[in-house]
Amino acid sequence: MFSKRILNILFIFNLTSFIISAPLTICDGCDHLSPRSPSPQIPSPSDDAACPNIGGTNEQFIDYNVMLKTNATNYDSVVKNHFEMLEKCLQKERYNVHELDFSSIKDNNVIFDFSVKGMIAGYTTKFTKSFVENYLSKLNDVAIVNENKVIEDPFENEFIKQAPLVRKAERPVAKMPNLDRIDQENYPLNLTYIYPDSAGAGVDVFVVDSGIFLEHEEFQGRQGKTVTEKTFCGDSLVDDDGHGTNVASIVGGKTLGVASNANIIGVKITGKDCPVNAQNIINGITYVMQQKANNPERKIVLNLSATSRDSAVGEVASKAVEAGIHFVVGAGNRNLDACGFFPGKIETVVTVASTKITPLPNQLDWASDFTNWEKCVTLFAPGEKVPVAGIKSASEITSESGTSLSAPHVSGAIALMLADGDYTPEQSKEGLLRIATKDKIQGLDFRPTANLLLRTRNAVI
Ligand SMILES: *[C@@H]1O[C@H](CO)[C@@H](O)[C@H](O)[C@H]1NC(C)=O
Ligand SMILES: *[C@@H]1O[C@H](CO)[C@@H](O)[C@H](O)[C@H]1NC(C)=O
Ligand SMILES: *[C@@H]1O[C@H](CO)[C@@H](O)[C@H](O)[C@H]1NC(C)=O
Repeated sequence: MFSKRILNILFIFNLTSFIISAPLTICDGCDHLSPRSPSPQIPSPSDDAACPNIGGTNEQFIDYNVMLKTNATNYDSVVKNHFEMLEKCLQKERYNVHELDFSSIKDNNVIFDFSVKGMIAGYTTKFTKSFVENYLSKLNDVAIVNENKVIEDPFENEFIKQAPLVRKAERPVAKMPNLDRIDQENYPLNLTYIYPDSAGAGVDVFVVDSGIFLEHEEFQGRQGKTVTEKTFCGDSLVDDDGHGTNVASIVGGKTLGVASNANIIGVKITGKDCPVNAQNIINGITYVMQQKANNPERKIVLNLSATSRDSAVGEVASKAVEAGIHFVVGAGNRNLDACGFFPGKIETVVTVASTKITPLPNQLDWASDFTNWEKCVTLFAPGEKVPVAGIKSASEITSESGTSLSAPHVSGAIALMLADGDYTPEQSKEGLLRIATKDKIQGLDFRPTANLLLRTRNAVI
């Protein structure tokens, strides 16, 4: 299903985005030159005693995602002051989205606070456009205010030294050239997937997606757990789309997965009646940050399906990496410059493009026609006709294409590293780059991108 959707995503929305660098200077007496100058009845941002005018009489209230500018010293005071202002002026209740059971909210006209103490501060709520333009976006403590929109189709050497491989395991992978390819540098493929014996044990890979079909055979009898832990789509934990299940099986499925002992933890942010929007993506990412804050020792990989033009998504992803989360995302399927999309544009995130493996007798790696490319791509991984678990029955194996399928290979590969060592996101990224297979990918002549193909950590390296 995802392969068919790929073609639809060429149309991206133009998100209104306000990135504030410095307070605007107001030109006295030149209102006629600038229709956006604050009207006199709206107090200036520094006038924090007064409540700002929240909007014109006939104006619509729409959802915005707001990120606050905080640092270690001022975190608490910025958050306190900003929310006090909001609660006083808007007279709305505030809920922490990570503790909230969304199905219990009858009235959507509340403040959905997705802050994680000390890591990130922000919320989603309804404002009028004039309030945002004239007041909110000009506040010194506001970093980003973006309208919440539906996303059309989301979908160093040191570490090796520290952790010598004691034993290796292998499995036959006759119909899984994707796994067969990533454990070796050169062709021919030899029908075996070799991986560290630990196979990702003790690492939590969060699948922020459509949920996971837990009853599928690929998730039965695993050493690692498979759960769907949280939903931001009403009260449903069920994967009624299939995408999350596809992805989870590549990360850690018993026979289809890269890291078959990793814990796979579903966070549902999309489904049949739950279109992906920036708020859901932000809630999903900050939920994972909250788990890291609760238990800093956890080794967490987060793989996200959705890409968007929304800078707020980029900002949250960047904070997640700062919080120590290994963040993997697909480059996108539009045959465009990957730097045009968040969070792939964020340098610290691992952004994965797709390859196709051509069959015998000419086994070669080709960049997929659909894949995004250019300098924001970290590396490539197989992403065409990848065997995955489906949702029609507990035994369904289907095959899907897209950078959504490439990315989980890399999430699994990072889980393999983390199972045997403690690395920062920066170190795991360096590790991927260092051991990647170099200069084998065809088809990059007109799509200048680093010629690096995922190689997993195995007995050979
Ligand atoms: C934190 O931000 C405030 C306000 O922008 C600034 O004055 C302060 O110097 C910053 N502190 C640090 C440690 O960056
Ligand atoms: C496949 O190749 C790997 C190394 O590239 C080797 O360790 C493994 O034994 C090979 N398996 C078979 C079945 O030839
Ligand atoms: C991994 O990222 C891809 C591409 O962004 C996404 O489509 C897929 O759902 C993600 N997988 C997991 C494990 O979240």
